[in-house]
Amino acid sequence: MLQGKKILVGVTAGIAAYKAATLVRLLVKKGAEVRVLMTPDAQQFITPQTLSVLSKNKVESAFFSTENEWNNHVHLGLWADAFVIAPCTANTLSKMAFGLCDNLLLATYLSARCKVYIAPAMDVDMYQHPTTQHNLQKVQSYGNLLIPAETGELASGLQGEGRMAEPETIVAFIEKRFENTGAFKGKKVLITAGPTFEEIDPVRFIGNRSTGKMGIALANQFALQGAEVTLVLGPSHLAPHANVRCIRVESANEMYEHCTELFKTCDIAIMAAAVADYKAAEYQTQKIKKKESELNLRLTKTTDILLELGKQKKKQCLIGFALETQNVLEYAKEKIRSKNLDFIVANSLQDAGAGFATNTNKITIIDKKEHTQAFDLKSKDDAAKDIVTFTFNYLKQK
Ligand SMILES: Cc1cc2nc3c(=O)[nH]c(=O)nc-3n(C[C@H](O)[C@H](O)[C@H](O)COP(=O)(O)O)c2cc1C
Repeated sequence: MLQGKKILVGVTAGIAAYKAATLVRLLVKKGAEVRVLMTPDAQQFITPQTLSVLSKNKVESAFFSTENEWNNHVHLGLWADAFVIAPCTANTLSKMAFGLCDNLLLATYLSARCKVYIAPAMDVDMYQHPTTQHNLQKVQSYGNLLIPAETGELASGLQGEGRMAEPETIVAFIEKRFENTGAFKGKKVLITAGPTFEEIDPVRFIGNRSTGKMGIALANQFALQGAEVTLVLGPSHLAPHANVRCIRVESANEMYEHCTELFKTCDIAIMAAAVADYKAAEYQTQKIKKKESELNLRLTKTTDILLELGKQKKKQCLIGFALETQNVLEYAKEKIRSKNLDFIVANSLQDAGAGFATNTNKITIIDKKEHTQAFDLKSKDDAAKDIVTFTFNYLKQK
C-alpha cells in the first residue's frame, strides 16, 4: 500500500523522538519514499544523521541551510502524499492549532495539501490539560487525522495517557488511508503515450507534436482507481504519478517490443501514443550533408502496434485512440473492425481545444457494437475520468 508513496515525517522535541527512527525504518521497508523534517529542538533528542541514514535523504530543520540557500517548505508540502508528525509535542500542536509558522516544519504543515497525521506524545498532565485537549479538537477540525496517544508507562515514570502510538500502529493507520478500494483493484492496465522518434541520422528524427498529456492523465486516473498501471511513454517532458510504472522509449519499434510482452499479462490495454507510421528505410550513421537542392528520403512502415495486439488478443480489453482531421467517426469505426478493438476514443483536430499540446480534449467513444457517446470539451484529466468510467461500465456489461 505504501510502495512508491511519498511520506514526510515531522519530528518534534519530545522524548518519543527516538521512536521516529523505527517509524522511518518501517516506512522505508514498506517501499515508501521518506523525507524527514525536524524542529530545531528535536535535534536535542535524536540526531539528524540517524534519520538521514534511515530515510536515505537529507534531513531538513532550518529555513536557511547555507548562505543564500533556503529550504522550500511549499515544495516539500506539495511533494508529500502524506505528512506524519510523530512525535508531536504540546508546543507544536498549539502552534498548529493557531497557525504559527516560526520553523520549517510548521511552514510545511501550513503549505501541505496532503493528509496530515498527528501522533501526540507528552506527559499525562500535559496531555490532559484542557488547552491540549482543545488544541487536539481544533487541529482535527481542520481535517488533520489524529493518531491517539496510548495509555501506559511514561518516560517521566508516571502512568497514564500520553505515550506516542507505537511506530507499527502509526504505519498501519497510514496504510489504512491508502488502502486500495478502487474500482480497478487487481487489474493490470497497459497504456502507451507520447510521440515516437524515428532516427534518420545522428541528429535528425521523424516525430510528431504529441506531448503524452492524454495518456499520462489516463495512466494517473487508472492508478487512482487502484489499477496496476504500466505506461510505455515515448519522448515526453512530462512524467506520470509515482504510482504508475513508467517505461520510457524512443522509437515505435521499442514501444512495440515492450507492448507485445506486457500485453500477454494485462487486462486492459489502451494505445494512446501517437506512434510514427513511417521510419527511415536506412539509418545514416553520419549526419546527412546539405548538397543537392532536393533530398529523397525513403521511408518504410513501422510495425502497427494496435494491429499486432489485436491479433494477439485473448481476454484483454483493447482500446485504441483515433486522432483524425476528417471523417473521424468513419475512420474510427473502421479501425475498431480492422484492429479487433473493444472500443475506440476518437478526437478531431478540427475541434478547437482538442488534440496535441492542449490541456483539454473533446472525445467521442465508439464501441464495437457502434454505440457512440460524445463528451463535451473538458480538461484532459476529466476526459481521462470519462474514459475510466466508460471502461468500467463496458467491462461490467461484457
Ligand atoms: C527532557 C525533555 C523532554 C521533553 N519531552 C516532551 C514531550 O514528551 N512532549 C512534549 O510535548 N514536550 C516535551 N518537552 C518540552 C519540549 O521539548 C519543548 O516544549 C520544546 O520547546 C518543543 O519544541 P518543538 O515543539 O518546536 O519541537 C520535553 C522537554 C525536555 C527538556
